[in-house]
Amino acid sequence: MSETLKIAVINGPNLNLLGKRESDIYGTLTLEDINNRIREFAIGKNLELLFFQSNREGDIIDFIHSNSSVQGIVINPAAFTHTSVAIRDAIAAVSIPAVEVHLSNIYSREDFRKDSFIAPVCVGQITGFGYYSYIMGLEALINHLT
Ligand code: DQA
Repeated sequence: MSETLKIAVINGPNLNLLGKRESDIYGTLTLEDINNRIREFAIGKNLELLFFQSNREGDIIDFIHSNSSVQGIVINPAAFTHTSVAIRDAIAAVSIPAVEVHLSNIYSREDFRKDSFIAPVCVGQITGFGYYSYIMGLEALINHLT
């Protein structure tokens, strides 16, 4: 049997408000609903998933540092996508393959959302498919790792 892959699923600021927050853009699923769909997808795939959400940049960086034993990261950095050199540097520093995901299509929105500080240090980016961006991100990461 193949070894268990340990994957962190990280969510940035305001994503704790999913379900209530701008549901025309982000949909009606809560973050826990999304995490449950990811858990369902993971059944039988020999994955260990670590879920983390924070509204604080430093906490996300500390989480990445202190979980450097994970083999992969799926991250929706939310607004930090467009601002955070520090999260980018944390991902680069631990050298863990990461996939950036977004619920909305960041390229079809305001200009300031079109730039990601994080994507260049990721394996790739999936944007615009709602909760399914996470599923595709995880699937792509597993494919990349195995
Ligand atoms: C988001 C897109 C970001 O621009 C925004 O700041 C978010 C959510 C998304 O998942 O579509 O908070 O990352």
